[in-house]
Amino acid sequence: MAGPQRIIVTSDRYGSESASLDMERGIIAAADLNVEIEGAACATERELIAAGAEADALLVSTREAVTRRVLENLPRTKVISRYGVGLDNVDLDAAAERGIVVTHYPGYCTSEVADHAMAMMLALNRRIVELDRDLREGAWTRHGASTGTILRGPIPPLRELTLGLIGFGRIGKAVAARARPFGLTILAADPYTSPAEMAEAVVEPVHLDALLERADIVSIHCPLTPETRGMIGAAQLRRMKPGAVLVNTARGPIVDLAAASAALQARELAGAALDVVDPEPLPADSPLYHLPNVILTPHAAYYSERSVETVRIETLKAALAVLQGKRPGTVANPAVLERVSLA
Ligand code: NAI
Repeated sequence: MAGPQRIIVTSDRYGSESASLDMERGIIAAADLNVEIEGAACATERELIAAGAEADALLVSTREAVTRRVLENLPRTKVISRYGVGLDNVDLDAAAERGIVVTHYPGYCTSEVADHAMAMMLALNRRIVELDRDLREGAWTRHGASTGTILRGPIPPLRELTLGLIGFGRIGKAVAARARPFGLTILAADPYTSPAEMAEAVVEPVHLDALLERADIVSIHCPLTPETRGMIGAAQLRRMKPGAVLVNTARGPIVDLAAASAALQARELAGAALDVVDPEPLPADSPLYHLPNVILTPHAAYYSERSVETVRIETLKAALAVLQGKRPGTVANPAVLERVSLA
């Protein structure tokens, strides 16, 4: 009898050696498959190649760079199953050339990211984090009961503001649905979504430049691609209205962080809420940690206990499907199907 097929979890986020893989082992046992699963958290190309040497499947997250070099050194691997949505860290073409199926699970955390983006917009607009910091530093007791002295402004009412969504896919649409009851006027710039689809959602389709010029809140929801890398740089930040704020829950490298830091320090950009930055983690000496008009979260928008459970189950199932010669729910590199036949 052939030995077991091996799945290696290279992510350190959803259950490698640092966490139990009991749930995954339970799924494999219930399906009565001759498959073993182990954790081997990887940060570098070299570690990925070493961990992948005996792997039939790799389960990877956002952080591991699955480069052409890595893919060319995976002798047994048939499938790379990505926990989650973005695929910017996997060389899809190189994988297809090597006959390695790449699968992912888009949509598992759409509502979590939309909730997070909305929370960031509300916190920026209502100055929740600044007021909270002021109070912890004694502002209320120092100034007495008169809250007027400790209010921070400006606070324009959301119903008078315009929200600009860059990217109108699953998350962009979910943000629009959440923003509408607050009375925000909504614009979207997305060259690959039809204006009719936007109009149906009562969202005005605009080009990026017009969005930057008109929006009071700019929220990014496009993927990281060669086209979107550095899309918000010094020139784009200068186009934004005085008083406008930026929210990024998409990918760090879409925003030129040095340019954004400079604009925030000069108050040319009134505020920013960043769940993603480049690099991650944000270095300890970053000026962003000291700017009162900045809210930071640690690439956490995807997270809820439910979303993590869902993505663990579905990522494993997609890998198991390929190992059994079946087509998973999504094939992110369809060119691979010219080399590999899946039922
Ligand atoms: P999606 O694929 O449904 O939507 C992305 C939209 O961006 C598409 O409509 C596409 O046409 C549009 N787009 C592509 N290039 C564009 C450009 N140059 N300008 C404007 N729009 C452009 O993806 P979904 O599910 O909405 O996710 C969006 C991104 O959110 C993901 O690619 C991922 O990077 C990020 N994300 C971040 C998470 C976090 O924890 N912070 C968690 C999940 C996703």
